[in-house]
Amino acid sequence: MLNETKQAERAGKYRLECEINGTPLTLDVPPSRRLLSILRDDLQMTGTKRSCEIGRCGACMVLMDGKPVNSCLTMAYQCAGAQITTIEGLSGGDDALHPIQQAFLEEGGFQCGYCTPGMIVSVKALLDENPKPCQAEIEEALSGNLCRCTGYGGIVRAVQKAIGTGG
Ligand code: FES
Ligand code: FES
Repeated sequence: MLNETKQAERAGKYRLECEINGTPLTLDVPPSRRLLSILRDDLQMTGTKRSCEIGRCGACMVLMDGKPVNSCLTMAYQCAGAQITTIEGLSGGDDALHPIQQAFLEEGGFQCGYCTPGMIVSVKALLDENPKPCQAEIEEALSGNLCRCTGYGGIVRAVQKAIGTGG
């Protein structure tokens, strides 16, 4: 009798086991499946955005073991055993906004909002590692996140406000 992992391999699939926003996940996926597709298409977690799909825009950014990664470039096997955090995992539940989300809201850190989940994930990674970044460090941390709308002024102000609130 084949175990479940072997059965998945026989079916041409890869048995992925990881954690998404603190919830264990076991999923049989094609080996070439990208994390972005797992989140959006398999799990219907559409907070993570699909845009360039070549690692240029940051719209698909999530945290993997606390580090920001472009989920469009992350293969299923690279997620094995990892803790993945998406924008859905940042809020405090009961529709409460994370302090970084609140700061974006108050400082006009978005217009269309398409880049916002990825931006906020990158800011979370920055502030977890460096709670008091200077302006240059903020700009460096967000250099992989493109925004076509805001001109970045409101985004940088939002990060500065989040620093003040311990976001
Ligand atoms: S969609 Fe992943 S970097 Fe643009
Ligand atoms: S708010 Fe529209 S792309 Fe950033």
